[in-house]
Amino acid sequence: MTPVVIESAAAMRLYIDERRRAEPECQVGFVPTMGALHRGHARLIEQARKACRTVVVSIFVNPLQFDRPDDLDRYPRTLETDLDLCAGLGVDTVFAPSAAEMYPRPPACVVDVHRLADHLCGRFRPGHFGGMATVVLKLFQIVRPDQAYFGEKDAQQLAIIRRLVADLNVPVEIVPVPTVRDEDGLALSSRNRRLSPEEREQATSLYRALGEARRQILAGARDPGEVRRHATAVIPAHAGIKLEYLAIVDPEELQPVEQVAGPVLVAGALWVGSTRLIDNLLCSPPP
Ligand code: PAF
Repeated sequence: MTPVVIESAAAMRLYIDERRRAEPECQVGFVPTMGALHRGHARLIEQARKACRTVVVSIFVNPLQFDRPDDLDRYPRTLETDLDLCAGLGVDTVFAPSAAEMYPRPPACVVDVHRLADHLCGRFRPGHFGGMATVVLKLFQIVRPDQAYFGEKDAQQLAIIRRLVADLNVPVEIVPVPTVRDEDGLALSSRNRRLSPEEREQATSLYRALGEARRQILAGARDPGEVRRHATAVIPAHAGIKLEYLAIVDPEELQPVEQVAGPVLVAGALWVGSTRLIDNLLCSPPP
């Protein structure tokens, strides 16, 4: 069935009010996206569909979270195929507001993310996580879901959203969903569709580097510097490839660890040509 497409925040609120009035026990599951939907998003939607009576997907390319105007301009926009995918997965409603609807005037109040944005992607994308947290909070206020689904591929985003709802008392349960990968390990991302066939091949080196870090940790390496050295050696020296970072951090506080003494998040960002890809693995050292 084709989902109802709603473009205004007021109409979206009304729709949810009516759903809840008609069926007070109705659980609302929410999947916020920026569109260009792929199998990774499908997994989020399927989880929501299994758990919730009403499933809402938002499609909004949020200008506030882009630190580079060219990245915002080049972000893929594929509304028609996104709606087909949503229809196939039984989504009830797609909230697809315009930028003017979400930001009728430049916001004077935004979410400020402190130390959780100091490392990993936050170091290289000033303002990104504040802009992301601001739009997610706005979407939560509009949709007021019981559960919201986020992919583990964006580990820093997920950790920040968990703290956002805890610190600001937002009544929503955050449901993490494991990363979906292609057969060769490449994490699915809307940005993958920008890769040329040669770049697509090179892109797997990020997953292989993270895998090497995990292998080192499982083999007993405790020194993050040493783990990094082995892992980064996997990235081929090629003019089109640039490792932005590969970091080993505490999974909740996202601060670099001095020693691998418990579970750690190994996360990285790799530029392949003009496309920036991210990925991560959660690793636990043997007892
Ligand atoms: O992960 C994304 O696609 C975006 O960051 C999100 C959560 C939809 C906010 O714009």
